[in-house]
Amino acid sequence: TPVTGGTVHGSLEQVHGKRNQQDGRGNQSTFDIGEALREAKVDIGDQHQKRQRTNETPSKPALYQHTPKAIPSRISGHLVKRRDDLLPQRKSLPIWPHADSIRQALKNNNVLVLTGETGSGKSTQVPQFLLSENWCKKCIAITQPRRVAAISLARRVGEEMGSLVGSQSPAAKVGYSVRFDNSSGPNTKIKFLTEGMLLQEMLRDPSISQYSAVIVDEVHERSVNVDLILGFLSNIVSGREQSQGRKDPLKVVVMSATADVEALVDFFAGESKNEETDGGNIKTITTKDKKALNVPAKSPPDQSLHLSKHGISTCFVEGRQYPVKTIYLPEPTQDWIETALKIIFQIHYKEPLPGDILVFLTGQDAIESLEKLVNDYAEGMDKDVPKLLTLPLFAALPQHAQQRIFTPTPPRTRKVILATNIAETSVTVPGVRYVIDCGKSKIKQFRNRLGLDSLLVKPISKSAAIQRKGRAGREAAGRCYRLYTEEGYKYFEERTVPEILRCDLSHAILTMKARGVDDVLNFPFLDRPPREALEKALLQLLTLNAVTETSAISETGTKMAKLPLTPTLGRVIVEAATRDCLIDVIDIISALSVENVFLNLVTEEKKEEAAATRGELYKREGDHMTLLTTVQRFAEEVSDRKAWCERHFVSHRAMRNVMDIRKQLRQQCNQLSLVPLSSDPTVSTTPSEAHTNAILQSLLRGFISNTARLMPDKSYRTVMGNQTVSIHPSSVLFGKKVEAILFSEFVFTGKAWARGVSAVQSDWVQTVIQESM
Ligand code: CDP
Repeated sequence: TPVTGGTVHGSLEQVHGKRNQQDGRGNQSTFDIGEALREAKVDIGDQHQKRQRTNETPSKPALYQHTPKAIPSRISGHLVKRRDDLLPQRKSLPIWPHADSIRQALKNNNVLVLTGETGSGKSTQVPQFLLSENWCKKCIAITQPRRVAAISLARRVGEEMGSLVGSQSPAAKVGYSVRFDNSSGPNTKIKFLTEGMLLQEMLRDPSISQYSAVIVDEVHERSVNVDLILGFLSNIVSGREQSQGRKDPLKVVVMSATADVEALVDFFAGESKNEETDGGNIKTITTKDKKALNVPAKSPPDQSLHLSKHGISTCFVEGRQYPVKTIYLPEPTQDWIETALKIIFQIHYKEPLPGDILVFLTGQDAIESLEKLVNDYAEGMDKDVPKLLTLPLFAALPQHAQQRIFTPTPPRTRKVILATNIAETSVTVPGVRYVIDCGKSKIKQFRNRLGLDSLLVKPISKSAAIQRKGRAGREAAGRCYRLYTEEGYKYFEERTVPEILRCDLSHAILTMKARGVDDVLNFPFLDRPPREALEKALLQLLTLNAVTETSAISETGTKMAKLPLTPTLGRVIVEAATRDCLIDVIDIISALSVENVFLNLVTEEKKEEAAATRGELYKREGDHMTLLTTVQRFAEEVSDRKAWCERHFVSHRAMRNVMDIRKQLRQQCNQLSLVPLSSDPTVSTTPSEAHTNAILQSLLRGFISNTARLMPDKSYRTVMGNQTVSIHPSSVLFGKKVEAILFSEFVFTGKAWARGVSAVQSDWVQTVIQESM
C-alpha cells in the first residue's frame, strides 16, 4: 500500500520551511566526544534539592527516590499488592514455562546461551528464576547496553518481587548501577548494570567475587563493551584467568534477541576446549515451543533446551508476535521527517484507539524537529479528535523524561514515541501498534583519514529493520511503515557490523590493559578487530602517555581507566589535576558531555535578543572557556535557574544534566585522590590568565590529536593528519584567525568543521607533541 498524504491541516511546507531554518545543520555527522558521558543520569539527591528551590514537582514516585531504612507497613502493603497483581502477567510470559530448564541448565553447566525475542521475558524473569538456586549465594549481575533499560528493569523487577529498589534499605533486594549512580547495596541480590559499570567493577575486582552469576543481556547489540565483557568472562569460566577470591564457579548466562547462537557457543566452547567440563553430553533438540504462546496450566517438558558441546547449554524461547503488515514507500524520500509527520496524522485520523505510534529516528535533532512539528499540528486538531501526546526517547534525555514512556496513556489520547534505536530492543514500550521506521541510525565509525570516531547517519541493517518492525506486534496485530522502498530494503546489510570492527579501540585497549591483559592481540574476541586498528589504538594511548613504549599501562593510564570517560577526556582530567585547575576542567567536561548547552537561535530577531545576554558568557579564548563561564554562572544562580536559562538561550534540560555529571565527576576524582579534599568546590572566581592557560593546556594534552595550525594561506590544518578544517559557525571563534586551535568535535556537512574550539599557543602544541613522541 503506497503512503498517501494524510488529512493534515495547514501547510506542511510552511512548517517544514521553519524546521529547515531551525535544523539547518542537516544530516551532519559528529565526532562523538563525550559519548560515554552523554548517558549521564539525573542524580536524584541533587534534583531533590533543586526542586525544593524551584518548587518543581517531582517526576517520579517518592518510593524510588530515597529508600527508607525501615519500610512503613503502608508501603510494604502496597509492594506486596503490586507484586501479587503482577504475577499473572509474569506467568503469561513466553519464558515462564522454561524456568525449570533454565535452572537445570545452570545446575549442570556454567554457561547458558539463551535466545528469545524481545519481550519474551528474558531480562525481567531469568534473574528471578536463578535467585533461589543453591549455588546462588551472592548477587546476580545483569548487564544492559543502556542506562534507561538498566533503571527501568530494576524498577520493574523490584515491583515484581515486592521489593524496594536502591541502596539504603535492607529490604531492597534489587538495585542498579549506571554511570554516575550506584543504587545498590550489600543486600542487593539482583543488580542491573550498564556494561561500562560491570567493566569498571571487573577492573577493581578481577574475579568479580561479589557475584554468583553474571547475565549478559542484549548481546546482539554487540557494543565494544559487551565484547570485552564476553572476553573477560570467557577467561574467568575457562580458568585461564586466575580467579583469586572466587570459591564457587561463576555462572554465566548470555542472552540475546537475535544473536548467532552458534558463534556464542563456539566462542565459549572453543575457548574452554582444554578445560574439564561435563562435555560430550550433547542433546540437540530444536523444537520451537509454539505452545509457549498459550501457556498451559502445567508446563510440558521443555524441548527447547539443549546441552551442547563442552558443557554449554543453549535455550531458545519463542516470542509472542502478532502479524505486522509492512508498508513501503513507493518512491524513496529525502525528507523522512515530513513523511513521518504525514503518516502519524494519517494513522491518528483513520485508526481507532488504542494503538500508540513508535517512530524510529536518527537522533536528538531529528526527534526534536518532529516533536515540534507534531505538536504544532496537533494544536490545530478539532476538539472531537483524540489528543496526541509526543514522548521523545534518546540516550541524552534526563532519566525522569525517559521514564515517561512507561506511564499509561491517558484516556482519549494516542502516544507518539519518537525514539532512536534505543527502542529497538533495549526498551519495551507498551501499547505500540504502529511503527514508523526511517531506516537509518547514527552509528559510530572510525574515520581512518582523521584518526577519529565520527557519528554517521547510515542505513540500518535488515536485522535491525526486522527488530523495529516487531515492536508493532507485541500486543495485537500491527503495522510498520518503512520510510524507504522495498527495493531499497534489499540493499540493506544483513546484520549490523559489530562496533568493535568499526570504532576507535583506544578505550577498549585501555580497559584491557588496566585488567592486566598484556597481549591484546591475542585476547579472545568474538570478532577479532583488524591488527592495524589495535595498533593504531595502542599508538593513540602512547600519545596520551597512558601506556609506555613497551605497551605496559602507565600510572596515568591506570587513573584514566578508572574514570568513566574516553581516554581523551580522562587524560584531560589527569593533566588538570597536575595543573591545579581540575575543578574548572570538570565543569568544562561536564558541559561537553551533554548535547547542546546553547539553544539553536532560529530567527534574526532571536539572535539579536541573545547577543547581549549570551555575549556576557562569551570568552575570547574560545568555546571551552565560554562553557566554563556558563556552567559557573548557572551554578551561582540561586533564585530562578530556569529564567536565567531562558534569558541566556541556554537549555535548562542540558544544564541540569551538566550539574549532575559535574557532581558525580567531582566525587569520582575525589575517590581517585585527584582533587584535594580540602578544595571547596562551590567557590568559583573569574580565572586569571595563568589559570586560563593551565585549563587550555590541560585540554590540549588530551585533545592533541584534535589540533590544527593556521597556515600562511589562512586555512587551518590538523597537526596530525594534515587535514583542512574550518571553525564551525556555532563557535565563538568563527571567522577568527589564531595561531593554533584545539577542538573537541568534528562535524561534516559538505566540509570538515571543527566545533567546540579554543585558541591555543603554537609552542604549547609543539611541547605536547614532543612529550608524546
Ligand atoms: O528481556 P526481554 O526483552 O525478553 O523481555 P523483558 O524485558 O523481560 O520484558 C517482559 C515484559 O515485562 C514486557 O513485555 C513488559 O510487559 C514487562 N516490562 C515492563 O512492564 N516494564 C519494564 N521496564 C520491563 C518489562
